[in-house]
Amino acid sequence: MEAASKLDVEAIRADFPILQRRIGDKPLAYLDSAATSQKPVQVVEAMRRFTDYSNANISRSVHTLGAEATEAYEGARAKVAAFIGAPSPDEVVFTKNSTESINLMAYAFQNAAFDAAADPRFKLGPGDEVVVTEMEHHANLIPWQQLCRRTGATLKWIGITDAGRLDVDTVDEVITERCKVVSFVHVANLLGTVNPTSQITRRAREVGALVGLDASQSVPHIPVDVTELGVDFIAFTGHKMLGPTGIGVLWAKADLLAAMPPFLTGGSMIKTVTMEHTTFADAPAKFEAGTPPIAEAVGLAAAVDYLDKLGMANVRAHEKEFAGYMLDRLETVDGLQIIGPRVPIGRSATVSFTIDGVHPHDVGQILDAEGIAVRVGHHCAKPTCARFGVNATTRASGYLYNTHEEIDRLVEALGQVRKVFG
Ligand code: ALA
Repeated sequence: MEAASKLDVEAIRADFPILQRRIGDKPLAYLDSAATSQKPVQVVEAMRRFTDYSNANISRSVHTLGAEATEAYEGARAKVAAFIGAPSPDEVVFTKNSTESINLMAYAFQNAAFDAAADPRFKLGPGDEVVVTEMEHHANLIPWQQLCRRTGATLKWIGITDAGRLDVDTVDEVITERCKVVSFVHVANLLGTVNPTSQITRRAREVGALVGLDASQSVPHIPVDVTELGVDFIAFTGHKMLGPTGIGVLWAKADLLAAMPPFLTGGSMIKTVTMEHTTFADAPAKFEAGTPPIAEAVGLAAAVDYLDKLGMANVRAHEKEFAGYMLDRLETVDGLQIIGPRVPIGRSATVSFTIDGVHPHDVGQILDAEGIAVRVGHHCAKPTCARFGVNATTRASGYLYNTHEEIDRLVEALGQVRKVFG
């Protein structure tokens, strides 16, 4: 029953012109928001207004447009900080996407290896350990793999149970006194699992490791408060939370950012420069070399406003109910196996599945012919696929604008899949 949701889904849909599109002669059912969300007119209009009337580079010009652009950019930072409960806007670094945010963290460790004066928290070498999980998106796996390869540290991971949950019973065993950093996914992009954080953060604290979250699939969907979570850093991206592509966020505690060497160097991140030597600006400027994504920051701020107005608790409630409906309906499809938690508790409205005897690409094509957009493939989570013995899945992911009717259409179309290919 959609009535359980406090969201007025029909009113929301009216803000998203793309949802009126037809694919061939079928109305679009967009069930791929875990890959990228659609953008409401409010976001596009805010970016357009900025570009049409206030466009200039930031922090460089004394002219009016420059001041307006700087104010818009810094205003966006403050909005994002408040949205995630960050104590200060200076703890919010704008990047290109989650992937860059996580690389920024991993490179802090890598660069520290070449700096005798680096903070010991970032010193990594043989005998040290880095911990992730088996359900990571490649973006929160490969940067740490590379870091370990280059420094001689060891990468370890927390496994996944058959039910698609983190194997938390092994946390104390996997995270040892040798661990320097734990970076794990908050909401898994393939499985839809919402991971409990307290057990891992407690253990990380016990052994003195830094702890961070890949929050790409959580910040858009559930209330996230970095202070309550008690982690050291999180990464997320604008385009999955109604905002534009080209902007991501790294939030990290102020003392950490102060101690971290920069990742990219160049303009706008310096205090002094001579031909021989450079001193760096304070965070966040230290991590924002070059002209940043200014109009994109304006768009992200408008997305935050949009979500704030709906209320993240309401967004979460809608999605919880929606996930329950998806699971119930999908379970009725002959030959369909859900990969991930089968109950709507501790899970998001992202549901991956296989259909016996049919390749996910064929499933995706049949669904597309019905106007239904899902993602098929390994979802940049190959180790998760391997854990469940599959090469690929079909993934349907819901967001605040999706309806039960779209799930009914999905289920009906899936019913045809085995008739055609089975
Ligand atoms: N990370 C995005 C996804 O899971 C692209 O689909």
